[in-house]
Amino acid sequence: MYYIPMILVVEGLDYAIETKKLIKRYPTKSRSANGGYGHGRAPSFSGIIDLLRGSGGAYIEALKGIDLQIKPGEVFGILGPNGAGKSTLIKILCTLVLHDEGEVYVNGYDPSKEPGQVLKNLQAVLPESRGFSWRLSGKQNLDFYALLYGLNDSDAKQRIEYLLDLTELKERADDGYQRYSTGMQRRLLLCRALIRDTPIIIFDEPTTGLDPTGAADFRNLLKTKLAAQEKKTILLSTHNLQEAQEICDRIAILNKGSILACDTPDNVRQFVTEEREIKLEIAPNILTKKIENVIKQINNFPQVTEVKQEINQEGMLSKLLIRIQKETEITDILQLISKSELKIKTINTQEPSLEEAFLAMTRQAKKSQLDKEAIKQ
Ligand SMILES: Nc1ncnc2c1ncn2[C@@H]1O[C@H](COP(=O)(O)OP(=O)(O)OP(=O)(O)O)[C@@H](O)[C@H]1O
Ligand SMILES: [Mg+2]
Repeated sequence: MYYIPMILVVEGLDYAIETKKLIKRYPTKSRSANGGYGHGRAPSFSGIIDLLRGSGGAYIEALKGIDLQIKPGEVFGILGPNGAGKSTLIKILCTLVLHDEGEVYVNGYDPSKEPGQVLKNLQAVLPESRGFSWRLSGKQNLDFYALLYGLNDSDAKQRIEYLLDLTELKERADDGYQRYSTGMQRRLLLCRALIRDTPIIIFDEPTTGLDPTGAADFRNLLKTKLAAQEKKTILLSTHNLQEAQEICDRIAILNKGSILACDTPDNVRQFVTEEREIKLEIAPNILTKKIENVIKQINNFPQVTEVKQEINQEGMLSKLLIRIQKETEITDILQLISKSELKIKTINTQEPSLEEAFLAMTRQAKKSQLDKEAIKQ
C-alpha cells in the first residue's frame, strides 16, 4: 500500500528553489586579527557587529552572486571541486547559514526571513546528519522522529511502513541500529528525511562513503522512487560526475563560488570541449617511412590538432588516435588512410566526457583568474 504524499508542488510557483545574485562571505582568521577581536582580548563592539553582519575585515567569498532556478520535480545536481561553495549553498537553503546579499527562495519563502515555512517545504540529508540511537532498532528510531515531528500514531505507522518498504529496509527494520551497514544507515537517514513528506529534498554528497553497489542502489532509489514515483524536487551536491550524469535532469558546475555552466549533463559535456577523438584500430603494421609520411599528412589537415600512434607489444603500429575539431568531416582523412597500406579494422569516435568538460572549465576559470591577477599587477 502506498502512502499518498500530501503536498508536492505549490500551485503558481515557477521555481521550487530560486536564487538571485546570492552572496555569502565568511570571515577569515586573519580578519579576527585585523578586526580587533581575538588574541585573548575582549572583542570590540564594532568587531562583534562586523562579525554578525559578515562585513568588514578580511573574508572569503564562498558564493559570488549565484543565480539558480530549479523547477518543481527536477533532479538538479551541483558539481564542484573542494571549496566550490556547494555545502554553503545547501546550508543557506536549509536555514543553517544566513546569506549576505542577493535573494533566495524555497517554494517562495526566504530562508532568512521565514525559516519555519522553508523547513515545512524542504528536508535536508547532510553528511553530518546523525541523531540515531544505537540501542534502538531502525524502526524505533523512526517512531521517535515521527513523534518529534508531531505525526499522530496511525499516520506515523502508515508512513514508516511505507518508507521502510520504499528503501528496502523492511526485513531489517527490527534489527538494532548498531547492526546496520553504512548503506543501511544512509537509507534510514533517507527514511527520516521523508517522514515529513516535504516536496523538496536536498542531499549533500549522498553517496560519499558508500561502496560502488551501495552507491548505485542509492542512486537508483533517488531516481526511480523519489524522483519518478514521489515526484520530489531533488537538489544534490556531488563530486561524482558519473553520478550527476546518471541521475540529474540538469547540473550546475560551481567553482570558487561562481557558476561556470548550468544545463543538462549532455549539453554541459559539449559546452567547452571543442574537439573529439577518433580512434582507428588498424591491422598491425610496421611503421615504415611511407606510413610515417601518411601520419604527417593527417597531422597537416588544418582541423586536426593531434595524431597519436599506439605501438603493440610486437612493435607494430596498431592504433591511431586523431583529435579533430568537433564538426569536422573525416572523409578526406579516411581516404588518405585507405589509399595507404594501412587496413582499418574499427573506427570509434570518443565523445567528450563530462569529466573532460568539467576539468576544462575549471582550468579555464583558473587561467582567467590568473590573467586578471596579472593585469592588476
Ligand atoms: N564556517 C566557515 N567559516 C569560514 N569559511 C568557511 C566556512 N564554511 C566554509 N567556508 C569556506 O567557504 C568556501 C566554500 O566552502 P564549502 O564547504 O561550501 O565548499 P564545498 O563545495 O562544499 O567543498 P567540499 O567539496 O570540500 O565539501 C571554502 O573556501 C571554505 O573554506
Ligand atoms: Mg561540502
